[in-house]
Amino acid sequence: MNGVVGRNVAGVEYGFYSDALANLGGVWTEERLKQFLVAPETIAPDSYMPAQGLSEGPVLDAVIWGLIEADTTDDAHMRY
Ligand code: HEM
Repeated sequence: MNGVVGRNVAGVEYGFYSDALANLGGVWTEERLKQFLVAPETIAPDSYMPAQGLSEGPVLDAVIWGLIEADTTDDAHMRY
């Protein structure tokens, strides 16, 4: 499984993680991802990732489902 769920936080060979994410530790669970996406400041106050304006509901559930299915071993979504 390549999805982000179950993978270490800040665990990709990306190299530019904020201290907030790099020091968070542990793995991404569905609950933790929801928290990161709904209220990032509560778990990673200085994250470089902008808040996405998501709240609990079907859209968030679909995003989480996508994160379970998606191949996130590459860091393409963080390159702009
Ligand atoms: C719904 C849309 C998005 C989702 C689901 C999402 C998901 C994630 C996740 C799960 C991580 C943690 C990665 C890890 O632990 O390896 C992350 C990190 C990151 N994302 Fe996103 N992301 C989204 C949108 C964006 C957007 C729009 C941007 C930039 C404009 C962005 C930029 C970043 C950056 C820079 C990081 C690293 C953050 C840090 O080091 O603090 N993301 N994203």
